[in-house]
Amino acid sequence: MNRTFKAIAVAPANIAFIKYWGQKDEELNLPFNDSISMNLDNCLTTTTVEFSEKYKNDEIYFNTQPLDKIVQLPNFVNGKEEERIIKHFDRIRKIAKINLRAKIISQNNFPSSSGIASSASGFAALTLAGIKALGLNLSEKEISSLARLGSGSACRSIPDGFVFWYKGKDHESSCAASLYPADWWKLTDIVAVVSQEKKEISSLDGHQLAKTSPYFQKRLEQLPKRIVKIKKALKIKNLKFLGETIEEEAIDLHIIAMSSKPAVFYWNGATIELMKQIRKWREDGLMGYFTIDAGSNLHIICEQKQEKEINEKLINFPGVIKTIINHPGKGAKTI
Ligand code: PMV
Repeated sequence: MNRTFKAIAVAPANIAFIKYWGQKDEELNLPFNDSISMNLDNCLTTTTVEFSEKYKNDEIYFNTQPLDKIVQLPNFVNGKEEERIIKHFDRIRKIAKINLRAKIISQNNFPSSSGIASSASGFAALTLAGIKALGLNLSEKEISSLARLGSGSACRSIPDGFVFWYKGKDHESSCAASLYPADWWKLTDIVAVVSQEKKEISSLDGHQLAKTSPYFQKRLEQLPKRIVKIKKALKIKNLKFLGETIEEEAIDLHIIAMSSKPAVFYWNGATIELMKQIRKWREDGLMGYFTIDAGSNLHIICEQKQEKEINEKLINFPGVIKTIINHPGKGAKTI
């Protein structure tokens, strides 16, 4: 009889209000700054992990296809994704002190061509399924730190709702915790997809280039007061306060990307037109605010009472291919 250990986990993607951009330690994915995010309840990765003596190597499937056969996977790192997942599983095997190989089946409920960062939900689900399959009893903090080694932002997809990632000093102290549960504030994140192309520069490369920007330190100087503002906005549920700060923060990330050496341009024409339009809509009382990760697609944050009206406007805006509506989501769970 083959020994088999299996678990299934589901984890959300998250959108950062305060971004992680640049790594103090590239091996451990330690960030220069604390960051804050909201889990997205409609952008989920479900991962099944089965460790068994019958597998001679780790077998990885993404949306039913073997990973090594997929050549065009947006947001994955230039063909190195298989290596990265196996390396992550080696960490889990080391903690469990076993040497079994695994079959890993990962599935996103959002189109992988939508340009939404799938590494956060992907590595969060992978980590949780891996450790649960092996019966490891880790705290949420320890699971978050472990997920961070796979992909930095994945540590924020472990806790519930609105999440704070403490930059920490070392592997153990750099982890995320929930600030508020998902039902704390009825916010909406409408993802406006303006490009379905694989981005030319992965976020991994972007992190490494960030330090070459003359504005990198300047942004870090701004962050303590920006973090205070976001925490206060979440506490008192003030959208204007939250929105103005997330726009400022997103623009700063892209200024750093565009002034890195070599320069990285994530935006396209529609990104800029839509940023301007969102500000105009606010003058008409549609209170949506944008944030943008390392890509061209926008995340429009608004209150749920205005999501229908804003979504309607977005769908009809030239250059918007589709939208995906998200509410604040729970963290990673086994099912
Ligand atoms: O976790 P990574 O390496 O994919 O980095 C994520 C970087 C941003 O999405 C741009 C910002 C963030 O904090 O999520």
